[in-house]
Amino acid sequence: MSEVKKELLYTGKAKDVYKTDKDDEVIIKFRDDITALDGGRRDTLSKKGAYNALISAKLFEVLEEHGISTQYIKLEEPDEMRTQALEMIPLEVICRNIATGSLLRKYPFHKNQELNPPIIQFDYKNDVYHDPMLNDDIITALEITTQKQLDQIREITYVINKVLSRYLKERNLILVDFKIEFGLDKDGNIVLGDEISPDTTRLWDSKTLDNFDKDIFRKGEEGVVEAYKKVVELVLTDEEIEKWNVDKL
Ligand code: CDP
Repeated sequence: MSEVKKELLYTGKAKDVYKTDKDDEVIIKFRDDITALDGGRRDTLSKKGAYNALISAKLFEVLEEHGISTQYIKLEEPDEMRTQALEMIPLEVICRNIATGSLLRKYPFHKNQELNPPIIQFDYKNDVYHDPMLNDDIITALEITTQKQLDQIREITYVINKVLSRYLKERNLILVDFKIEFGLDKDGNIVLGDEISPDTTRLWDSKTLDNFDKDIFRKGEEGVVEAYKKVVELVLTDEEIEKWNVDKL
């Protein structure tokens, strides 16, 4: 990272945000830290940051090709993404195609029940309140977004789900569910931000239904980084894998 990039603006659970020479661009550095269970389990897993950045960059590129605006500009290093600066909206937008995880704990869905149409849920990104689930009225009453912005976020999320589900299915992965975050650019447009990686999605092998995502870590099992690497290999092209020297990171 060059000297001008070094001013840290924000540090999160698994990523840091740095200033750049341009006011409207930031660098997101993906760290190797991993947390789960509301911070109750944490570890540092070598190369995880780079794998997540490579996967996020690729999926943002795919979404851009399908007309979705994302904050992604380019990867500067395998674990450093240059992005457009956004004013982030404190919503965790969760989209589900299959019932698993907290949905099974909280509601009487059948295990692995197919959800068609997919379920979109909004959680408040707020550690003090432990990310409570919101509805439209709470979101607008708290002035997190307007109803119009929320409707737009819902529509964009459906499209993202369609595009990514198809892209991943062609690579033998089922997109079970995922969490995304949006922000506003300087003109007030809603833009996809943050990341889309095995930390923030559930990805299952199409045949075996094995996890290739953070559920491995949540369950306290071995092989987290190996699974993330497998996703890199499935999602990137051979040329991209060679360009980023994935085997020697
Ligand atoms: O992981 P858990 O079962 O507690 O939560 P969930 O609500 O079933 O998670 C749905 C999806 O959103 C999963 O793909 C999670 O990885 C993702 N998620 C996330 O990335 N960050 C959160 N704070 C909550 C969920």
